[in-house]
Amino acid sequence: MTVDTTTTIVKKWITKMSLFCGIQFWDSPYRLDITRINQSCYYLPQNKKENHFKIHNRRYLGNKHKLLWLIEHIMAEKCWNIESFCDIFAWTGVVWENFNTENIKIISNDFLHSNYTCLSAFLGTTKDYTDKIIQKIDYLNSLETKEDNYFSKHFGNAYFSIENAKKIWAIREEIEKIAENEKEKNILICSLLYAVDKVANTVGHYDAFRKTLDSVHPIKLQIPEINYNNNIKNNIYKEDANLLIRKISCDVLYIDPPYNSRQYGDAYHLLENLSERKKPNVIWVAKKMDRSHIKSAYCLKNATQAFEDLIRNANCKHILLSYNNTWISKDDRSNARIKDEDIIRILKNRWDVEIFESDYKAFSTGKSNWDWNAERIFYCKVTK
Ligand SMILES: C[S@@+](CC[C@H](N)C(=O)[O-])C[C@H]1O[C@@H](n2cnc3c(N)ncnc32)[C@H](O)[C@@H]1O
Repeated sequence: MTVDTTTTIVKKWITKMSLFCGIQFWDSPYRLDITRINQSCYYLPQNKKENHFKIHNRRYLGNKHKLLWLIEHIMAEKCWNIESFCDIFAWTGVVWENFNTENIKIISNDFLHSNYTCLSAFLGTTKDYTDKIIQKIDYLNSLETKEDNYFSKHFGNAYFSIENAKKIWAIREEIEKIAENEKEKNILICSLLYAVDKVANTVGHYDAFRKTLDSVHPIKLQIPEINYNNNIKNNIYKEDANLLIRKISCDVLYIDPPYNSRQYGDAYHLLENLSERKKPNVIWVAKKMDRSHIKSAYCLKNATQAFEDLIRNANCKHILLSYNNTWISKDDRSNARIKDEDIIRILKNRWDVEIFESDYKAFSTGKSNWDWNAERIFYCKVTK
């Protein structure tokens, strides 16, 4: 362990203890002012129509719905008269959804095809297809198949019951035949992806499946609740964030990259495989296909350079960055790829930086003594 690392641990420990005791030995572990806000969690509305689903009704890693109130707080305090908002690592899209109105242009991007499909369905559809979608989803739910297929062969009796696996692929094939255009196709595939998550024999991602196959209830597609009128100005992309940043401009740029070495493509390979429908070879127990095209630089050793490049090329007025402050863990895969001091140095190149942190949940009562995991956002007012 280097002296630097030891100093950081001691400093964080003293900070943690001092906060715990209500005393502050120094203002901030970042040597920057922190605005600490004490507010309880933000609850997304759970009311939905029968047989329908909302964008946030799914299980996923790293979603920021618990941070929405903090983002709203910063937006209200710092970002006035906003006309556009870019969520460049969008994943589930819960962050943009919160700001999606007729008058605001949302730019939403994720380089995974499955995420892009759902973002396009919820955010990119402007024409109301509800009646046709209801009919088509009824039809897809009524499909029956006894035949083996690509999905049942590879994922049956592992991630899904054999019956569900057969039906999932049969539905995917049928969508190709019945969708009248790309918009309808995205909505139907999105409905399938959400339904698949609900019958998957996993703990929420596809790095592994549970030994006991007890998720056996039959798959059932539902209808997405899409707010068509709010989507008029929006643009959806499936690009590497560092390439896209060179082509767009916006008032607020929200950045929520992966922060450790765990690749999203590794965790969601199965949804990617299903949405793309290319039938790639899959290997090992977890049945993963080749994922070299969906490796994120933000999970690799050059994450800091990627972040520096992104910030240098950002054409915007405000930057909000979510980035975990994971402790130095024994498992290197969990450690944050970009150091706080690098984040601050890089953001300062574009001007003023402030940190907003939640008091709420600043400490965890988990197993480890080193799991202080404050929710926080770096805010940068861009003037150069
Ligand atoms: C931490 S998640 C974002 C979570 C999101 N804010 C939410 O609340 O649902 C990071 C996302 O970035 C995507 N991603 C990773 N590297 C990317 C890159 N280089 N370009 C575009 N998207 C990327 C991943 O697919 C993943 O969906």
